[in-house]
Amino acid sequence: MSKHVVLYKKLSPALMQRLQAHADVTLIEDVKSDEGMARLRDALPHADGLLGASLKLDAELLDRAVKLKAVSSVSVGVDNYDIDDLTRRGILLTNTPDVLTQTTADTGFALIMATARRVVELASMVRDGRWTQNIGPEHFGTDVHGKTLGIVGMGRIGEAVAQRGHFGFGMPVLYHSHSPKPDVEARFDAQYRSLEDLLHESDFVCLTVPLTAQTERLIGAEQLALMRPQAILINIARGKVVDEQALITALQNRQIRAAGLDVFDREPIQTDSPLLQLDNVVATPHMGSATDETREAMARCAVDNMISALSGDKPKDLVNPSAWHPH
Ligand code: DGY
Repeated sequence: MSKHVVLYKKLSPALMQRLQAHADVTLIEDVKSDEGMARLRDALPHADGLLGASLKLDAELLDRAVKLKAVSSVSVGVDNYDIDDLTRRGILLTNTPDVLTQTTADTGFALIMATARRVVELASMVRDGRWTQNIGPEHFGTDVHGKTLGIVGMGRIGEAVAQRGHFGFGMPVLYHSHSPKPDVEARFDAQYRSLEDLLHESDFVCLTVPLTAQTERLIGAEQLALMRPQAILINIARGKVVDEQALITALQNRQIRAAGLDVFDREPIQTDSPLLQLDNVVATPHMGSATDETREAMARCAVDNMISALSGDKPKDLVNPSAWHPH
């Protein structure tokens, strides 16, 4: 009997064809709308596989998915899933690591450059016709090269940020992660620090940790108070890693220089968020991995993981190996 996949993210024609060679596919393009959610609920009881991104798969939805064997997430982050619950239910969860590492690190550096050199603010000045004389000190930015880069979370993306900072910009690299990583230290001349020391010593603090119970609100008022007044916070991890209200206060009081934020407590960010009123904030729409090439690579990876799971093979990017029982 053919398998059934519920897809809640549109695929390129080539990938759709590839998936359809292995399963019947129901595509729900607008799963966040009321109508899309109703279609998802109707489709769930027949689904062997679910493939998509940015949807909180809660217990109530999973209870409907009585045949479900695999969830293939088109993301590296798996904070939208209760991994223990999926494992208990015997449902495989896969993600898309590696293929987005370099692109997400590029985004981190785009935010470092944009905040330090005030690119968005000054480009808006030009566009709005407010560039009427040579700019003076009130519009100057701060250097990136040679400054101290502090990376919180030294996984794949953290390493790719370190690589750019060390080799591209001659930045001394500090890092904090659950344990020291001698290979990273050797490659990037990086030094391990406690979180407190890293916050205190860095000019740029770049967050790359996954969102977990341990990292939720990792950076709050107390931590922001440890940062240098000239320091810049970059968040390419998850919004909830930072206490957003505390960050707003720190930025409003110029307790830190600026923030480059790709992720927010609530996404899309509310249009009346005070963050959007501040000229020392560069806010981007969770675009860390959003290039044509990388999003296609992520989707291909997710499709391949789903095909493996449906074929009874162990998927390459299995997040919960204890749910895997070879036949
Ligand atoms: C990821 O892959 O986790 C990106 O942040 C997109 O959600």
